[in-house]
Amino acid sequence: MAPRTPWPSDPPPPGEIVVVPRGGFAAAAATRLAASMREIVGERPGPLSLALAGGSTPRPVYAALAETANAPWGRIEVFFGDERAVPPDDPDSNYRMARESLLDRVPMPDKLVHRMKADAPSLEDAAAEYASVLPKALDLVILGIGTDGHTASLFPGADTLRAEARVVRAVSPAPPRDRLTVTPPVLACALRIVVLAAGEEKAAPVARALTGPWDPEACPAQLARRGLWLLDTAAASALPTDLQKTLASAEEVRP
Ligand code: 6PG
Repeated sequence: MAPRTPWPSDPPPPGEIVVVPRGGFAAAAATRLAASMREIVGERPGPLSLALAGGSTPRPVYAALAETANAPWGRIEVFFGDERAVPPDDPDSNYRMARESLLDRVPMPDKLVHRMKADAPSLEDAAAEYASVLPKALDLVILGIGTDGHTASLFPGADTLRAEARVVRAVSPAPPRDRLTVTPPVLACALRIVVLAAGEEKAAPVARALTGPWDPEACPAQLARRGLWLLDTAAASALPTDLQKTLASAEEVRP
């Protein structure tokens, strides 16, 4: 009997794939994210729960989002998909990156920004504490993809991938840092997922995630296959052209 996995045995159909030339990637991604946020808040009252991705790709997108006039900032509550075990002012902190590029530049009350306290003495306690504040289903999860196919801090072959009950886990992937990460059930329950990928080095993992044999254990970014993938031309370059919807610029990235 094959061990249970917290993902379906058959792959979901790929979500929408939008390819934008590198020069327009950040603006186009910000435009599309703001449109998704507006759609969600327009569908029902209450705050939109947004989980931010870390790493470097999101930084220019968040900066463009901060400049986007019509993002519904008064209706958004911010969470994180993962965090490194560092203080919030550490250069490696995803929280610091989000603060600098976005959160300090939009009207966002501190009480609506839920930092993962991965610098706490006990990572396990911090994971449990975060799990207690995480909504049952996030409205919009922004993710990246690593060159090894990881997403959030769900790394290939990690036992975290089989976590069903726990929604936040402490992980110790390859150096440099211990981390906290949401687990596959959190991604499975998300209303919408948006994956950001740019650069030649992401072409192979993007193609594997979207068109490779279904194996989220080997390529955890496949857990986001159903999402909206916002790619620059380099990151999309290994995809079959029939899978791509190429746009010339941000102006065309409207729902
Ligand atoms: C992190 C991220 C991680 C990231 C990928 C891509 O904490 O590092 O959450 O999942 O999205 O590693 O990182 P880059 O955008 O820097 O390529």
